[in-house]
Amino acid sequence: MIKDLNSKYGLNPAHSEVVAALEVVSAGAALDMGCSNGRNALYLAQHGFDVTAVDNNPDAIHMLRTIAEQEGLTNINAKVYDLNEARLTEQYDFIACTVTLMFLDPAKINAILTNMQDATRQGGYNVIVCAMDTADYPCPVRFPFTFKTGQLKEAYAGWEIIKYNENLGTMHNGAQLQFATLLAQRR
Ligand SMILES: C[S@@+](CC[C@H](N)C(=O)[O-])C[C@H]1O[C@@H](n2cnc3c(N)ncnc32)[C@H](O)[C@@H]1O
Repeated sequence: MIKDLNSKYGLNPAHSEVVAALEVVSAGAALDMGCSNGRNALYLAQHGFDVTAVDNNPDAIHMLRTIAEQEGLTNINAKVYDLNEARLTEQYDFIACTVTLMFLDPAKINAILTNMQDATRQGGYNVIVCAMDTADYPCPVRFPFTFKTGQLKEAYAGWEIIKYNENLGTMHNGAQLQFATLLAQRR
C-alpha cells in the first residue's frame, strides 16, 4: 500500500496535474524541475518512477534527501541545480515542471524549454504549469517570467498535445490569474 508521505512530512499533496498525468504516463525515468521539498518527487517515486529531482535551493534538496533516506526510497536522486543553465544531459520519460518556470530568467526560457524537450525520450511526456500575464488577467504578482496567450502551446509545436488550457486560478489572497497548463508527448 502507498503511504501518504506528503502529509507525514507536512508537504502539500503532489500537484494535481502530476497526479492526472499518471493516467496516461507509465513509470520510467522522471525529472522534477524545481522540486522544492519534493511533493511531486515523492509521489512519483512511490508510483515506481526513478526520479531525479532538481532545485537551486540547497535546504529543499537536503530535506528531500533526508525524507528519501528515512523512507528507504532509493529511487530519488535529489540534486542542487540551477535550471537557468539549461544544461540537462540525461534522457527522461517524464519531466514535470509545476509552478516553477515563472521564477526563472525570462531571457533563458526558450533555451530551458528546448533543453527540457531535448532531454525527453521519444514517446516521453512533459507536464508544465506556469503563471500567465494577459490583457484580460494581468498577473497580480511580479514573477520574473509569465506566459502570453498561446505561447506555451506554440513552444510544443510538433508534439502531441494531450492537454492544454489557460484556465483561471485563484491565489491565497483571492487574486485571479491565468495558468498555462500543458501535458504533451514527444513524437
Ligand atoms: C513555487 S515552487 C514550486 C515547487 C514544485 N515544483 C511544486 O510544484 O511544488 C518553485 C521552486 O522553484 C525553485 N527555483 C526557483 N528558481 C530556480 C532555479 N533557477 N533553478 C532551480 N530551481 C529554482 C524554487 O527554489 C522553488 O522550490
